[in-house]
Amino acid sequence: MCGIIGYIGPKQVTTLLVEGLRRLEYRGYDSAGVAVITNPSSPSSTRELQIVRCRGKLSELEGQLAGAAPQGNVGIGHTRWATHGRPSDENAHPHRFESVAVVHNGIIENYLSLKRSLSERGHSFSSETDTEIIAHLIWEELQRVAPGPDRLLTATQRALKHLEGAYAVVVLCTDTPDEVVCAKSASPLVLGLGDGENLIASDVPALLPHTRRVIFLEEGDLAQLTREKVRVIGLDGVERKRPERVITWSLLAAEKAGYKHFMLKEIFEQPRAVTDTLRGRLSHAPADALLDGYDIDPSKVKRLFVLACGTSFHASLVGKYLIEALARIPVEVDLASEFRYRDPIVSSGDLVVAVSQSGETADTLAAIREAQKKGAQIFSIANVVDSSIPRTSQHSLYTHAGPEIGVASTKAFTTQLVALALLALHLGRRSGRLSEEAAQAFVHDLTSLPAKLTQVLQTAEQLQQLARTYGHCRDMLYLGRGPQFPIALEGALKLKEISYIHAEGYAAGEMKHGPIALIDEGLPVLVLAPHDGGYEKVLSNLSEVKARGGHVIAITTEGDHSLRTLADHVIEVPAVHPLLAPIITVVPLQLFAYYVADFKGTDVDQPRNLAKSVTVE
Ligand code: F6R
Repeated sequence: MCGIIGYIGPKQVTTLLVEGLRRLEYRGYDSAGVAVITNPSSPSSTRELQIVRCRGKLSELEGQLAGAAPQGNVGIGHTRWATHGRPSDENAHPHRFESVAVVHNGIIENYLSLKRSLSERGHSFSSETDTEIIAHLIWEELQRVAPGPDRLLTATQRALKHLEGAYAVVVLCTDTPDEVVCAKSASPLVLGLGDGENLIASDVPALLPHTRRVIFLEEGDLAQLTREKVRVIGLDGVERKRPERVITWSLLAAEKAGYKHFMLKEIFEQPRAVTDTLRGRLSHAPADALLDGYDIDPSKVKRLFVLACGTSFHASLVGKYLIEALARIPVEVDLASEFRYRDPIVSSGDLVVAVSQSGETADTLAAIREAQKKGAQIFSIANVVDSSIPRTSQHSLYTHAGPEIGVASTKAFTTQLVALALLALHLGRRSGRLSEEAAQAFVHDLTSLPAKLTQVLQTAEQLQQLARTYGHCRDMLYLGRGPQFPIALEGALKLKEISYIHAEGYAAGEMKHGPIALIDEGLPVLVLAPHDGGYEKVLSNLSEVKARGGHVIAITTEGDHSLRTLADHVIEVPAVHPLLAPIITVVPLQLFAYYVADFKGTDVDQPRNLAKSVTVE
């Protein structure tokens, strides 16, 4: 989730770019930079492409620019949220090759093979990023296009045909100083239409000081910006008509893309986030998961531990079901805060998987250090690239969910589940315990997740209604079995932390061992009942709740008939592999918690007493 801005017009561009980047800071950043064409109207020999970039906050970049800001009216800027390559000065954007500079948001899946063939043609690289190869490819194409008004546009269009993956890219070239070119595939880009000036940005807030007239680019669009006009074409070169819109949002609403809270925005981002977690990591024939170059030999793994805190712990519990079912390797899941203090029995040959959104949680970090001291290998699943936990680990798999700003974790959770599913698939294939046929079915269902998440988000209105009905209650109970049990825990945690309503998550089979005593007239009980091996048993638990006057809200697979007569409310979700169903069934619980909190008027994005990153014990 990098931030991008580009400008062509009469204004001094460096300050404008930095101000634009400041308005995109909420997208997360670990480094920033600008590229400006100086002397654009002079002969090409005296034109220069000046790049200033560095690791750290925008204020670091401002420090470098103070007194030495490049002077010009055409430029591009970028705040980086690292995906390929750690945050560093060298990996900060813009990236340049010869006369071409680019900024990029997204992931180029085939960058390694492109880099290899560019190297064979004599290119060398100065960063670890996938972005740098785009500048090289465009420059190569530029050498083949005759000078003319569309030279950069044509070269970019040709270069992009080599890329697989997601990109929002903006290109600047000293040979063609009167145009800026950009292109979008899966990552957002919006054009800002001014008077004698035009802009491009990854999000509306960066444009608002200059214009409210915008064009949202669509998949496969390329745009050419000059001072006077913008032109949109497809990868096939054919002109595309895109409607102009006028933005009426306030700046704050624009940062949240019009959503009332970051949490709601992040819930709705889940189809995109899961797509990015899967990107480049699945093979279809043979069906397999690729863990970014990490290959685990299960026969060498003595024991497998998964360590985490809070929501990430709940994801880890689902991970146990996934790994044990697909790879038949026993998994011990532990709260990192407990593990670190009990002199854990762990030694060399053990594999410890650490799961953390922030990558900075003090307890998880201390737990893996303890395990490492005792000889274990550490594999981390994290969202923030190059944070402390991945830096301490031998290998890391990043979830690529983009920055999560709402304190209550949502998209980080579902993407952790996807990462754990990839790990389970990998172990299942390597151990030989998962047949090609079963792996094919699993891969098929993994790839269906973004569309199914989009479908399940359509239950939002129903959940908003339910939140109004039950938002006044003092307690709620969440029940689930098998891989849905951790989802019951997660649903209860979401409700507690943002609405301050007391909630308990229980394994449905445990009801009769105590919590059934809590059930009385009117207690809302949220029951996870998708069609899986535990369905029939959950139905009998649900009947026990009903018999005692509880109000049942059931989450089940679409087309279910039995629950309509048993439950007070039924939320239907699309069918998917039972081990992947938690990724779908958690969404109505996130929405319910959100709407209850909103109904109660609590501070949804920053609930009391909580911090996004718990770096203290
Ligand atoms: C709850 C939540 C927390 C975190 C926990 C671990 O919504 O976000 O429970 O999951 O503090 O944080 P990470 O995943 O950053 O290690």
